Amino acid sequence: MRRFENKTVVITGASRGIGAAIAKRFAREGANLVVSANEDAVHAIAEQIRTDGGKAISFVGDVTDRASVKALFDAAENAFDAVDVSIQNAGVITISRIEDMTEGEWDKVMAVNTKGVFLCAQEAIARIRKHGRGGRIINTASGQARDGFIYTPHYAASKMGVVGITQSLAKEVATDGITVNAFCPGIIETDMWAYNDEVWGKLLGNYAPGELMKEWVRGIPMKRAGSGEDVAGLVTFLASEDAAYITGQTINVDGGLIMS
Ligand SMILES: NC(=O)c1ccc[n+]([C@@H]2O[C@H](COP(=O)([O-])OP(=O)(O)OC[C@H]3O[C@@H](n4cnc5c(N)ncnc54)[C@H](O)[C@@H]3O)[C@@H](O)[C@H]2O)c1
Repeated sequence: MRRFENKTVVITGASRGIGAAIAKRFAREGANLVVSANEDAVHAIAEQIRTDGGKAISFVGDVTDRASVKALFDAAENAFDAVDVSIQNAGVITISRIEDMTEGEWDKVMAVNTKGVFLCAQEAIARIRKHGRGGRIINTASGQARDGFIYTPHYAASKMGVVGITQSLAKEVATDGITVNAFCPGIIETDMWAYNDEVWGKLLGNYAPGELMKEWVRGIPMKRAGSGEDVAGLVTFLASEDAAYITGQTINVDGGLIMS
């Protein structure tokens, strides 16, 4: 299927993990990709997409910085004319007992995961409204937006904030042909998960590397961790014409881990 021919998709947090998988899926379906992250590795993702016959540019920037976000969308419009889909996916996590959690951890996680979504969505909506042919805003939340988890109150708050932003914006732009939705990945095997396995594993009882992951995966009804591709299937659906009447929703993609 090439559902996104002549559509331009901006995606943050696309240097690896979930974001890179989503970007590659859109590229295979014909989209013009603007892949962004705060690390140079994002250039290799764009290069790989081009090598595979897709269209992509890369942009290194910081989603917590308004000028940087504006420059990202300027780069997208300069390269491909107009933005149709914006995926706010950049995210960070830290894991600490409450007595050890620093104000710096709180500020960083809220800045990237929540303010970053707000700044990128704000810029994307302005650009999509300007061209007037509608579009899609898709935000990465987390299972922790449904059910907060131990040692991550800041992360749970940041992702519940993403749901709030999603619902509020969905109402504001509903008559502009713009849908706004979010998704909640469960346990997806990425670099972020490797950190989670190590630090949660230590705090929850000195698990050997990989052991905590195995235990949690046993708790998933489908008995496997997710992949970036699993997430990309949902995100491309939300960006497609088939999802034109879906807005303000937050959808789990987690093998059945959370059913509410
Ligand atoms: N992996 C999981 O199990 C899981 C579960 C639930 C939610 N999520 C969410 O999915 C998203 C992607 O996670 P992942 O597992 O691929 O993570 P990852 O750590 O592999 O990748 C994170 C990406 O965000 C980018 N990033 C971080 N800070 C940034 C900043 N200030 N400005 C711009 N880019 C920045 C990084 O460069 C990288 O591209 C995140 O929002 C994360 O919270 C992941």
